[in-house]
Amino acid sequence: MGVDGITPEVQIFDTTLRDGEQTPGIAFSVQDKVKIAQKLDELGVHVIEAGFPVNSQEEFDAVRQIAESVNATVCGLARVVPQDIEAVLRTGAEMVHVFVSTSDLQIAKSMHTTREVVLGKTRSAIRHIKDAGRICMYSPMDATRTDPAFLIEVCQAAEEAGTDWINLPDTVGVGTPSTIATMVERVRAAVKVPISIHCHNDFGLAVANSLAAVSAGARMVQVSLNGIGERAGNAAFEEVVMGLRCLHGIDCAIRMEKIYEASRLIERLTGIPVTPNKPVIGANAFSHESGIHAAGVLEDPKTFEPGVMTPEMVGHRRRLVVGKHTGKHSVKKELEAVGLCPSDSELDEIVRRVKSLGGKGRAVMSADLFAIAESVMQSLPASERALALEQIVVTTGNKVTPTASVVARVHGEVRTEAQTGVGPVDAALRAVQRMLGVSPKLEISEFHIDAITGGSDAVAKVTLTVEDEAGRRCSAQAAHEDTVIASVEALVSAVNHLIRLNHRATTVTEAQATR
Ligand code: KIV
Ligand code: ZN
Repeated sequence: MGVDGITPEVQIFDTTLRDGEQTPGIAFSVQDKVKIAQKLDELGVHVIEAGFPVNSQEEFDAVRQIAESVNATVCGLARVVPQDIEAVLRTGAEMVHVFVSTSDLQIAKSMHTTREVVLGKTRSAIRHIKDAGRICMYSPMDATRTDPAFLIEVCQAAEEAGTDWINLPDTVGVGTPSTIATMVERVRAAVKVPISIHCHNDFGLAVANSLAAVSAGARMVQVSLNGIGERAGNAAFEEVVMGLRCLHGIDCAIRMEKIYEASRLIERLTGIPVTPNKPVIGANAFSHESGIHAAGVLEDPKTFEPGVMTPEMVGHRRRLVVGKHTGKHSVKKELEAVGLCPSDSELDEIVRRVKSLGGKGRAVMSADLFAIAESVMQSLPASERALALEQIVVTTGNKVTPTASVVARVHGEVRTEAQTGVGPVDAALRAVQRMLGVSPKLEISEFHIDAITGGSDAVAKVTLTVEDEAGRRCSAQAAHEDTVIASVEALVSAVNHLIRLNHRATTVTEAQATR
């Protein structure tokens, strides 16, 4: 059921914890799986496929714990064999997703059996699940490469045996919107049970195929957050939900405003960064740099965004990025947001310097913009740096807790702070944050390390964003052969600008109050 207790027209079946976890290199701990399941529950997902219980004790425990702790229907995966089905039943999961290969290729080369055996196992597995009183979802695996006549035969056998759902998997992502729609229409004409769709992204068509399946009458879509999954992944949760809502007018009763935070959780727990141009959730999904676009968006975001989808709808934010293509409007807006009001000639000079920095192939960070603005406007003397790094010493190793001690001047006063962390960078960043005390409370909201050159003497480039309690953000970059030093220098640069902006905002507010 949906978040409001009403079953929506199309339900969302999330397989982040099962097919998503089959992404090469990913293995979630039981604790992480429970955390993700709770987030999926908050999103209002209808079915959570929590894992493949027969696979391992950990997998079994995760499905059992999730089944006990969420409101969504919890599903466990099983082959058409009794011990797999029994394992799911023992977890307490309400739904069993049972699958078997139906394409001749997989029947011969993966299962080494015959169509008759597949039909027999389909019937007995479904009866087993229904006799146990659970919801059954049946998947004829490799449906898109299955002989269409045999696909109808197994689906009819599954319906007769009592399955509640038939899921049609495009296992190797070879479907197209028109072939998927035809497959769904044919199966729908042959059986009465509702149809679900499961698309892989080998040709980048998983989302388009899922939407085509819904247009052809599918009532459930299997998706994963950030599109993680086998090979090129599965249909992305965020794209399917937003595509259905904004392009097809279908409300799946998902709490869309939680999508961005859920995506960030998956990014953090998988360690797989979301590519910046990823639709809906990527850093650039609602970012604008070029002058024409930024000016248009400032007047009305619909000019250069879809309009039917806004960043607020998914809990993301719009950004005007400064750089080589930037125009006056976005620079002015960015500076005004922090209380800097350059004159027309100052603004011209700031934009000229920003474009020149961007033109040298360098990303222009907000710390760079504010530094340029302050130097052009001569608003604050450079000596007024809140934080000046003097010395940093780190100890790390396989048998010691990474520790960093930092000596720095904070508003001119020398301070020393030592902190431990999960690694030397973490320890150093904690020491600098600690040094600044609890006020202003700062958080590092983005952190990336790239190697600029190859080899063990590579120069590391650290890019990070610091955010204060008021949501003011400042990003900065630093490069050094030593990753720890690059990280601390970037942090110091961002923190300095944030503190100065805070100071400026307070002064502007005070000046306005006394006027
Ligand atoms: O892609 C696939 O065929 C699957 C099945 C287990 C449904 O993930
Ligand atoms: Zn799959």
